[in-house]
Amino acid sequence: FDAVEIIATKRDGAALSPAQIAWVVDAYTRGVVADEQMSALAMAILLRGMDRAEISAWTTAMIDSGRRLDFSGLPRPAVDKHSTGGVGDKITLPLAPLVAACGLSVPQLSGRGLGHTGGTLDKLEAIPGWRAQLSNAEIEAQLREVGAVVCAPGDDLAPADRKLYALRDATGTVESIPLIASSIMSKKIAEGACGLVLDVKTGSGAFMKDLERSRELAETMVALGADAGLPTTAVLTDMDQPLGRTAGNALEVRESLEVLAGGGPSDVVELTVALAREMLELGGGGEADPAEALADGRAMDLWRRMIAAQGGDPEAALPTARHVEEVRATAPGAVTFEAYQVGVTAWRLGAGRARKEDAVQAAAGVELLVGPGEQVSAGQPIAALHTDTPERIPRAQEAFEAAVTVHATVDEARGVGPGSRI
Ligand code: URA
Repeated sequence: FDAVEIIATKRDGAALSPAQIAWVVDAYTRGVVADEQMSALAMAILLRGMDRAEISAWTTAMIDSGRRLDFSGLPRPAVDKHSTGGVGDKITLPLAPLVAACGLSVPQLSGRGLGHTGGTLDKLEAIPGWRAQLSNAEIEAQLREVGAVVCAPGDDLAPADRKLYALRDATGTVESIPLIASSIMSKKIAEGACGLVLDVKTGSGAFMKDLERSRELAETMVALGADAGLPTTAVLTDMDQPLGRTAGNALEVRESLEVLAGGGPSDVVELTVALAREMLELGGGGEADPAEALADGRAMDLWRRMIAAQGGDPEAALPTARHVEEVRATAPGAVTFEAYQVGVTAWRLGAGRARKEDAVQAAAGVELLVGPGEQVSAGQPIAALHTDTPERIPRAQEAFEAAVTVHATVDEARGVGPGSRI
């Protein structure tokens, strides 16, 4: 095969054969196809699209670039959840121990934040001592002994995707349904779980801003799961407003602990319980009641064991920011917060990174002091901005001002609710 011929085929709008796809993905992983050639091909795919057979072949080629994990020998079925990412999406933190407390194994290979969205591993690293990097043997041992593990994927899990995702990030080729669907599903299929629940976000804080494209992404991923023999369901959920009241690493751990203690914001609790029910249905644990496991402390016990198994101290105080700046309402009315700008605010405060190698501040982020649609008076504190570096405050304030809308009436403030199962 020839890389230029493959690029030209896609550029002119024709479909690639499974053999062409297998060759180009493998040759790129080995460095035989150059970055500039793969960039051109990714752009051609973004502009021309791919049919289902091509997406399926592309996904298989990415899985075959590395090793597949196998959790079929575990005493309890392994079921996984993946969110396409958003602002304040800390759901994995309470969900993994909750589902394990209800009797399933939960291997949750997670990522780091880039840009305005947070990453689960960055959040958990706010806990003193907690370690993200585990060997495959350690993952399996923890699943047997504790039931849940949240950690970084090993270098041998879909290495083609790691290389391609970094390239797409630098070449404006992230926002392609075939490329996103194959990127996510190659990792999830290689992970070897026996069921997968996808939380596909739609709205300003999500990758996919409009509902139709989000639905298409969800359907594409569900079909890829079916092709690979991985039972997959998807829920479409709202990301026009942030999830819960916090965006930022230690702040989100704190909010997750509130949920595990039986409290916390209702949107976080509802989504956690709804996704737990989906996972239990897929894994054959349908009789367990996740709401009860949250209320009676079983999920919290499992969280403590899960954190301790990875070197974390579940009793240690979480880091707090050296500087906290309050934001007050400028007018009376019902306030709403736009997810994307809240994410940018947290990022500018130091919670996120601009480049992969940047460090994040554990304590930085946004804490909303009122719920979405809540009535406030002029001058009432509505948010607190947390950072260790106060020189970041003015630019963060600018983003936060863009996030806030004060509506004349509570009715006007009512946003899109969480979406439905597809
Ligand atoms: N998350 C992924 O893992 N891959 C994408 O392409 C987009 C989001």
